[in-house]
Amino acid sequence: MQNDIKEVLYSEEQIGVKVRELGAKLSADYEGRNPLVICVLKGAFIFMSDLVKTITVPLEIDFMAVSSYGASTKSSGVVKIIKDLDVSVEGRDVLIVEDIIDSGLTLSYLIDVLEHRGTKSVTVVTLFDKPARRTVSLEPNYKGFTLPDEFVVGYGLDYAEKYRNLPYIGILKPQVYEK
Ligand code: XMP
Ligand code: MG
Repeated sequence: MQNDIKEVLYSEEQIGVKVRELGAKLSADYEGRNPLVICVLKGAFIFMSDLVKTITVPLEIDFMAVSSYGASTKSSGVVKIIKDLDVSVEGRDVLIVEDIIDSGLTLSYLIDVLEHRGTKSVTVVTLFDKPARRTVSLEPNYKGFTLPDEFVVGYGLDYAEKYRNLPYIGILKPQVYEK
């Protein structure tokens, strides 16, 4: 698995420091509120679980799965809800936890859906951002790292469902997906 990685971009330790920073900011900003924290499956599952442990306000969690990619490394532009939330978002302060924003299509669709359900506020925290690839205008409220325009895996992110368990984020060797 490690042999398929061209370069480690951020180590487990560096990610840990960043996650705690984000958690501290969110804790301060959500003081006195009770956010509903939504994990966008599957990629955000590791970030979500590390992040909520660093947030000190009471919160609830739920999960949503959307697909825009299939097994390809490029966005198809088609977003579909695979798994919807279990709870109502009406009147809630919603915090969407994303692994990575690329074109921005997935997230802008998700924000739209949630706002139409009567949320009080919708805020986005993403661990990784690839702003160079944006096709819709979308700026996350909180972000961890800005990444170059490369396909990355690890810390929850996959290629064809593999590599999610790498504790760091790295660039996949192109020959892995060109095979
Ligand atoms: P969009 O283009 O809608 O895409 O912003 C967001 C979703 O696409 C996935 N994605 C990646 N997954 N390595 C991955 O493993 C990447 O480099 C990458 N870029 C985008 C991811 O699921 C994200 O939520
Ligand atoms: Mg994702």
